[in-house]
Formats: sequence, structure tokens, C-alpha cells
Amino acid sequence: MAPPTKDKPLTLLGIETSCDETAAAVVRRGSDGSGEILSSVVRSQLDLHAAYGGVVPEIAARAHVEMLDVAIKQALAETELYFDALDGVAAASGPGLIGGLIVGVVTGKAIALGRGLPFIAINHLEAHALTARLTDKLAFPYLLLLVSGGHTQTLIVEDISSYERLGTTLDDALGEAFDKAAKLLGLGYPGGPAVEGCAARGRPTIALPRPMFGRTEPHFSLAGLKTALRHEALARAPLSDKDIADLAASFQEVVADIVRDRTARAMELYVERLGAQTQRALVVAGGVAANKRLASALEAVAQKHSFRLIVPPPALCTDNAVMIAWAGAERLARGLADDLSAPARARWPLDPDAPPALGAGVKA
Ligand code: KG4
Ligand code: ZN
Repeated sequence: MAPPTKDKPLTLLGIETSCDETAAAVVRRGSDGSGEILSSVVRSQLDLHAAYGGVVPEIAARAHVEMLDVAIKQALAETELYFDALDGVAAASGPGLIGGLIVGVVTGKAIALGRGLPFIAINHLEAHALTARLTDKLAFPYLLLLVSGGHTQTLIVEDISSYERLGTTLDDALGEAFDKAAKLLGLGYPGGPAVEGCAARGRPTIALPRPMFGRTEPHFSLAGLKTALRHEALARAPLSDKDIADLAASFQEVVADIVRDRTARAMELYVERLGAQTQRALVVAGGVAANKRLASALEAVAQKHSFRLIVPPPALCTDNAVMIAWAGAERLARGLADDLSAPARARWPLDPDAPPALGAGVKA
């Protein structure tokens, strides 16, 4: 393990390849905990996967091989100091699609080995969780709502490496539910922005179920909603433009309601665990955070429970390498580096002790 290096600024290269974005970035963390983004390159693979209506792991892994070195070269070139700028190399090492993770981890290790730098294996979820400390200098503890294509979780962020998972999804992730709804309604991929755009033209007049609504366990469930949407669509087939817009609006409205209710429950548990005097801040991360209807639902719930709402800018909410480099700098400042035997991990829960949610699948 590297010695603690908290007294000097740290400049880290970050590598992100866990899903369908190939990303590299260089970030500097000051000894006072401030952060500066020196460069950020994100090469989306959206075009490669759109035809399939979702991410194809094998195509993603091959595309990372083709794009990663180019992205790293560009990110380093923008710093001018190139490799000499670096104090360490951080790579997203899980959870995610294993083929892509291997590409990023091996590349990160090779650079660390070649340059004699520490290598830091980053949990992609921890990187999402720590982003608000870069953007808002947020102190611990705080509540995180992570809503992306692969994850739907509420977590208490107690400290680096210290998390308590409150809620998770029993089935589909929120972004996945948007993507499936879009596919069903013929709106294309990625589904979130397509559903949101279409919903703006419709009215939320169709009754749909709200799974887990009002339940004491803070978990989410979305599969039943998706099935109900299919039944409502079939009942109206052939669908007019108005039907599609009303179905999209109704779906989005129900999702906003579910998110509001589940987040409120997580807030109650957060205060129960940490006490009434604790800092109340809700950080939202993941691509679904871009949805304006959801954002207004979250603003309402934050206000009601006296939580400060922090939504990092969209480019730092969706998958990027800035968050990986930043998490690497935060860990290195604590002396937390890894050896070159660190594995790539398809599953890597932030809170390994969280009791399994009844009926849950195997998502981290
Ligand atoms: O965090 P992200 O960019 O990638 C990962 O999943 O890791 O999230 C992508 C997800 C997709 O499922 C996409 O449909 C969803 O975020 N999304 C949205 C919106 N924009 C993106 N969902 C709802 N409304 C949006 N405006
Ligand atoms: Zn992510």
C-alpha cells in the first residue's frame, strides 16, 4: 500500500470502460480537498449499439480496445505535461461488463507499471458516489440516489470505502425500465430521452401500478410496471400518436411518483440511522437524473424532508472518467492504492454486508 500522500496535490489519470462509454480524464486534487478537471474525453458507443436496442457486451469490449488508447492519448495531451503530470492511474474495475472492464484495468495497470506509478482499482459506484465532493466539496455523510441504466440504489455515503446500502431494485434498473418502455412504444434507443420527449406531448391519463409504493423496505421494483404498460399498449393497438404520447406520459409520471416515494423512505432511514442533527444532503447520479420530471419530483421530496439537493452537471452524472480519476485521487490521498493483481469484477457491491433484498436479482 502506498504511503498517505494527503499533503501534496495529486494528479490522476482515470479510465472508464465498464459499459458503453470509453472515457479517459486527468483530474488534480488539491491537499485541501479541492478538485480541478484538467481534461475529459468521453467516446460514446451509442451508434454501435442502437440497432440492437441495448448494449451488446461483446461489441462494447471490442470498441473499448479500439478507442481507449486514443482517448487516453487525447486526455494526456490536453494536460501538456503528458505522462509526467501523473501521480497515479485509476481504472474502473467493476461492477460492469467484464470484457470492457478487463480492457480498462489491463491498460491502467500497464501504464502504472511502465511509469512506476501507483494503480488504483476503482469501484464505478464509488466513483459516482464521490463526484459531489469534486463538484460541491461536500463533506461526509450524505445520501446518494444512483439511477442509471444498470443501477438503482439509495446509499448512505459514510466515508470513502464505507457505505450502507438502503434500497436497491428487485428487478429492472430505472434507466432499463425507460429503455424497455421506449422499445415497447417504438421510440428508439436510448429510451430515457425518447420517452421524456414523447411524454411532453401526452397526458398522464392511463392508470399504471406503482410497485413497492409506500412499503417500509426502501426497495424499488419496476418489472410489474413494464408488464402493465405492455398490457395497456396491447389493449389500445394499433397505437395512435396520441396513445403513444399518453402512455409515455403516464409511465413517466408513475416512475416520478415511485422515485419520490422510495427516496422519501430512504431519507427517513438516513435520519433514523445518523440522527436528526446529521448533515442532510441528497446527491443524485446516473443518466436518469437528466429527466426533468424526475428532477422536479426530487426537488419536492428534498424540500419536504429538509435535504439539500445536489445534482452534478449532466456530463458528470452519466458515465465519465473524471469521476474515476477523482475517486482515485481521493483514495490515493488516504494511501489506498492497489497492487497489480487487482481483479476486474463484474459484481462489486459497495455494501457487501447489505442483506439481500427479497426477490432481488443479482445486480451489484
Ligand atoms: O448513467 P448512464 O449514462 O449509463 C449507465 O447506465 O451506466 O445512464 C443511461 C441510462 C439509460 O437507461 C437512459 O435511457 C437513461 O439513463 N436516461 C434517461 C434520460 N436520459 C438518460 N432516463 C430518463 N429520462 C432521461 N431524460
Ligand atoms: Zn454509471
